[in-house]
Amino acid sequence: MKALVLIGGFGTRLRPVTYAVPKQLIPLAGQPMLYHVLDLLPSDVEEVVLATGYKAELIDAYVRAHPTRFPVRTVAETEPLGTGGGMKNAGGAMSDPFYLLNSDVIAQVDLAAMARAHAAKRALGTMALFEVDDPRPYGVAALGPEDRITAFVEKPEPKDAPSRWINAGLSVWDRSVLDAIPPGRAVSFERETMGGLLARGVFGYRLPSFWDDAGTPERLLHAQQLLFDAGRGGAGGVPPGALGSGPVAAMPGASARGASFGRYVTLGPNVIVEPGAHVDNSILMDGAVVEREATVVGSLLGPKVRVGAGHRVQGQVLGEGAVA
Ligand code: GTP
Repeated sequence: MKALVLIGGFGTRLRPVTYAVPKQLIPLAGQPMLYHVLDLLPSDVEEVVLATGYKAELIDAYVRAHPTRFPVRTVAETEPLGTGGGMKNAGGAMSDPFYLLNSDVIAQVDLAAMARAHAAKRALGTMALFEVDDPRPYGVAALGPEDRITAFVEKPEPKDAPSRWINAGLSVWDRSVLDAIPPGRAVSFERETMGGLLARGVFGYRLPSFWDDAGTPERLLHAQQLLFDAGRGGAGGVPPGALGSGPVAAMPGASARGASFGRYVTLGPNVIVEPGAHVDNSILMDGAVVEREATVVGSLLGPKVRVGAGHRVQGQVLGEGAVA
């Protein structure tokens, strides 16, 4: 099978960081969000096609410099085509069936088992679903016998939500769904296309364990915690000469001699945390500097952010080059 990964969104909820960097390149537990998504794919996947748009050139460059287990090809949109338009634009050479993945979710899921369930039910589509307390920000499925999806409501009002089982952004589709998407314009697959496909057999696949949408600052840090707790943190550990038991992921060139750490921290490439500084539950991107005796808690620091000596940053998202 091949996989199509949607990675063309603007990431507005993670601004200002996403003004400079697409959210899928934000490191979580030591590697970019995108690479955690690719880690979910079975090793026999033949090819991954990235449907890019916003900041396509940065994603292209990163993927070329950091090869994955799979051959990866990018197909860029010249204007945003939405999820359905992106599928249509980049999906021409997909396998039948194919995996369709959002690039901003973290999960524990056996996608090969999901593909087997898809084949066994002779489904047109099989969509991973996750149960949440508040389904309002998501696409919500109504489920019938054998978990057949009987209705799908995108971002419903509470009274209109048919269940608490939401689209987890991981699915398997027969290639014929691409014929249901009009070419050459922006299309929301969830709002415009899905409804018309349900009668042809779309099934839910309930995820029993963790899932998160890493698209907001709070969820991003929560997603990082889940990844660390599941042992899926990459990179270094607490850097040499620093205090703390972690988990901390220090990427190449990060240094923090004399600093101390709480839990769940990623230090991106070439980050410097100076002596006496303290960092807890945060993500510091490439080249960020936390000066002496400063404190960073529950925050996302974009590339080259500088936190001045003795300053405290808590619960903030700071864009590239900001000074705090
Ligand atoms: P927000 O602006 O913060 O909502 O983030 P987003 O732009 O990523 O939107 P959302 O989280 O709803 O997108 C879900 C998935 O679809 C993500 O993997 C996006 O990258 C992807 N996506 C959204 N819009 C497009 C698009 O126009 N083209 C492509 N190729 N992918 C898209």
